[in-house]
Amino acid sequence: MRQSLHNTSLRKYNTFGIEVNAKELIICHNKEEIQTLINEKNFNNQNTLIIGGGSNLVFTKDFDGIIIHPQIKGISLIKEDDSNFWIEAGAGVLWDELVQEAVNNNWHGLENLSYIPGHVGASPIQNIGAYGVEAKDVIEQVKGIFLEDGKDFQFNNTDCKFGYRNSIFKNELKGKVIVTSVIYKLSKEPNFILSYGTVKEEVEKLGEPNLKNIRKVITAIRKSKLPEPEEVGNAGSFFKNPIIPIVKFHKLQEQFDKVPSYPIDTEWIKLPAGWLIEQAGWKGRTMGNVGVHDKQALVLVNKGGASGNEVLNLSQAIIKDIQEKFSITLEPEVNLI
Ligand code: EPU
Repeated sequence: MRQSLHNTSLRKYNTFGIEVNAKELIICHNKEEIQTLINEKNFNNQNTLIIGGGSNLVFTKDFDGIIIHPQIKGISLIKEDDSNFWIEAGAGVLWDELVQEAVNNNWHGLENLSYIPGHVGASPIQNIGAYGVEAKDVIEQVKGIFLEDGKDFQFNNTDCKFGYRNSIFKNELKGKVIVTSVIYKLSKEPNFILSYGTVKEEVEKLGEPNLKNIRKVITAIRKSKLPEPEEVGNAGSFFKNPIIPIVKFHKLQEQFDKVPSYPIDTEWIKLPAGWLIEQAGWKGRTMGNVGVHDKQALVLVNKGGASGNEVLNLSQAIIKDIQEKFSITLEPEVNLI
């Protein structure tokens, strides 16, 4: 049954651990509950927010509206042919539970996305990605409901207009839909992607490349760099990695010995924002109750009792400093609310 909480704390619902209240928080367990809710309430004139695992958002103040928290569970194999499995997962499934299930069943394609916090429902929204793989590489279809009228939608991969940490759900459809499930097309044959950082050599230390070894290595790399939200509040990468013109990159290379980068095309190149933030001297620094993580400068952390405003102030100070030092504008990767 649908649950409704009034003037309730959102602390448990955001991994940054910010203490704010919502006017109303509604937990729905299936599609029908969401549709009934939409029929009962008019969401068109309401301040509405959908929260999954709350691992990519930072509240800067109380939320004066309705928050819907879909708890739709279930992972099922819906189809297979000689080469692929099609797996449908509910929006409320823990992302890493899905990856574990895939590894257990020899479904290939999700292994590099091991140990990412959050729920399945968020995977298409920000096109989660890590270690050379993005959700868009495996998403076949996204199913959901329009908030306006409760009607269903089914978008295929191209409809979602995926980009780097981006999709139609962060643009044209922002605040207009609820994702209820996602269908992933996974492979029967291995197509291991080991090219990112030290992944290949770490996997070789364990033996042959296989799903279990890759999952083990990626989980260990993430654990060594990224703080556990249960221990230290955080929202993963706070900023996007900026994409800059190659000419500007060459200028940076004149100034610095080694500038790490990810190639995009012949004109553009992506820089790790963590490197810029570290070069600017922010790594490990603290401002009040917030700080820059000492093992990965792209992550801002709650040192205990942080307010949303403190997070905002620190992020703005970093943006300003990087702008002044490198003439590069960092953009938040998290949703600031
Ligand atoms: N670096 C530094 N100092 C730092 C952090 C990074 O110099 O403090 C440099 C190093 O050269 C390092 C390089 O940046 O080799 C890349 O660092 P890392 O592998 O940690 O990746 P990232 O570019 O900082 C991105 C994603 C992560 C994802 C990793 C691995 C974004 C915004 N972040 O981070 O995603 O896990 O790659 O693929 O694209 C997330 O989105 O929340 C997230 C954690």
